[in-house]
Amino acid sequence: MEAGLESVIAAHTVLSDVDGEAGRLVLRGATLESLAGVASFEEVCVRLWSGLAPVPVDGLKAALGAARVEVWSEVERLDDALAALPPVEGLRALMARLADGEDLPAALRITAAPAVFTGALLRRRAGRPALAPDPSAGHAADLLRMISGRAATPAQAAALDAYLVTVIDHGLNASTFAARVAASTRAGLVSAALAGISALKGPLHGGAPGPVIDMLDGIGSPGNARAWLEAALDRGDRLMGFGHRVYRVRDPRADALKGAIRRLGADEGRLALGEAVEAAALEILRTRKPDRPLETNVEFYTALLLEALGIPPEAFTCIFAAGRVAGWTAHAWEQVATGRLIRPRSIYVGPEPAPE
Ligand code: ACO
Repeated sequence: MEAGLESVIAAHTVLSDVDGEAGRLVLRGATLESLAGVASFEEVCVRLWSGLAPVPVDGLKAALGAARVEVWSEVERLDDALAALPPVEGLRALMARLADGEDLPAALRITAAPAVFTGALLRRRAGRPALAPDPSAGHAADLLRMISGRAATPAQAAALDAYLVTVIDHGLNASTFAARVAASTRAGLVSAALAGISALKGPLHGGAPGPVIDMLDGIGSPGNARAWLEAALDRGDRLMGFGHRVYRVRDPRADALKGAIRRLGADEGRLALGEAVEAAALEILRTRKPDRPLETNVEFYTALLLEALGIPPEAFTCIFAAGRVAGWTAHAWEQVATGRLIRPRSIYVGPEPAPE
């Protein structure tokens, strides 16, 4: 028995394959490299959802646009207390208000929600009015506009599409497993996504990229990287954006996102700092942990890409959820189709009752 269930196989899935030795991610029969920066978020939703629900192959963009408008009604009830929460907690609270179900409309509502609610929460925190969705826009472009208030450039929309596709699904990661457990009780897709986002927000999973920005800001210039990183490790800290439960080589998503940053034409100085910190961190980790391959994971370049898109670090996990929610939904459907409740067992190691 391993506390982290590392060698437990808990599902058969057609959705994604994470090859930790080869550093390869397959999304329903296609490599990540063939999709990220090539296909839109909506197109990859169709890829994941087909066969699990009656997905409108040519109409998903319009259906998701209509769902953004549908969930917007919740924003009109957004109060100050909710807007004052950390964005990922505000997002979770707003998502919890959506009507639950296991059908395609429920899937569309919950997939539309992070894009609409994140912008509303961020703008309310900044004292600005929330912006209504544009159902005719692509999901990524509309998400960016609802945050910034400006139309996204094609390059920005393409970069966010590449990000959403890159994180859309990733085997039985912690949040997806949590979503499958909730779905297995027949609680519904909204409940599955709420379980997913609750697991996602922790710093060992989807909460890592905000602290990556803190690390880069703390280091400030490439020359400081080594001393800063050594001091962090001496304190017993983990370096955010490095290490992975499954990958023993570089996370392929890191390079997909680095490519997206380059295509976006983001600030060269910031990217150079990121590369210098990455190189120093990998060298130090290799020296300190020679027996444990620790490589760059998806969160390191997530931080740089989302920062370059003008998204504030406190909302990074919300944007992760905006992509991963489509994977949670597909896994929830797949789990429901098995007809089985997920219910493992434990070994009792507590005290025996006192003799009577
Ligand atoms: N920095 C420093 N040391 C590390 C790191 C790190 N980022 N990651 C692992 N280690 C060390 C551990 O301290 C441990 O050392 P020890 O044996 O001396 O105690 C050894 O490497 C093995 O670590 P495990 O805890 O067994 O690795 P696990 O598979 O449980 O961890 C995890 C995976 C949680 C991602 C870990 O690498 C980590 O905490 N990374 C930083 C947080 C992060 O970037 N999370 C995002 C992951 S990607 C995603 O979820 C989308």
